[in-house]
Amino acid sequence: MKIFLDTADIGEIRTAARWGVLDGVTTNPSLYAKVGGSYEEILREICRITSGPVSAEVVADDVEGMLREGRAFAKLARNIMVKVPMSELGLEAISRFAEEGIRTNCTLIFTSNQGLLAAKAGATLISPFVGRLDDINQDGMIVIRELAEMFAIHDIDAQVLAASIRHPQHVTQAALAGAHISTIPFKVLGQMVHHPLTDKGIATFKADWEKARAAAAKAAAETPAAAGSAATTTAARADGDGSSGRTGPRANGVKPARHGSGSGSTKRRR
Ligand code: G3P
Repeated sequence: MKIFLDTADIGEIRTAARWGVLDGVTTNPSLYAKVGGSYEEILREICRITSGPVSAEVVADDVEGMLREGRAFAKLARNIMVKVPMSELGLEAISRFAEEGIRTNCTLIFTSNQGLLAAKAGATLISPFVGRLDDINQDGMIVIRELAEMFAIHDIDAQVLAASIRHPQHVTQAALAGAHISTIPFKVLGQMVHHPLTDKGIATFKADWEKARAAAAKAAAETPAAAGSAATTTAARADGDGSSGRTGPRANGVKPARHGSGSGSTKRRR
């Protein structure tokens, strides 16, 4: 399943692109209203960040107006996909765009039959709104599952794009229901990255690593002094009793093995 970001925020899009998980972007008038500025310039910038499909939504309420807006969007970049709301006029516009070779994303889909009609009219992407159906106590994921099955059974080329995604479970469920794409708010994408045990595990690994490195550095710093002291002890014993062969292990703090008559230690050296 592909992952699109559902935003017009350039910073969020750049971040998702850096993570290597961005397959495309969907925008709509409400998302645009959150960032403001020139919609066209924002679309151009998004299309520079991703080569995947970038949805730009028409707002005209007549077919000619939708066509005018959509054609202008399509000229902005090769990866623009014109987003058209589901309606009788929207279907007509989608059909006309298809004849002109302009790809469309039919939005505001709430039933499988709406999705089927949009696909028949020639839309490339069909966008059922999962969260908004859940909001009114209907299972939005049913529309995703039904459309995915319908398109597979009848070999329909249109792709199901799960929209109005509100939390990470929606993403998992959409993937399992056969959605080709999920378009995800940046906040939900972040929630998908994190797990408290992952974050805790990273902190523990880091702390243990630092402890181990500090211990290793301390041991390394003490080693020359320990070696020097061992040499001194060995020399002192050699001078005192002449039994230098048995002083090595003691110098290291290890008690020498007992070998009865003493011939054992000779054997061991051989
Ligand atoms: O892509 C459509 C999506 O943005 C709608 O989401 O949360 O406003 O229902 P929401």
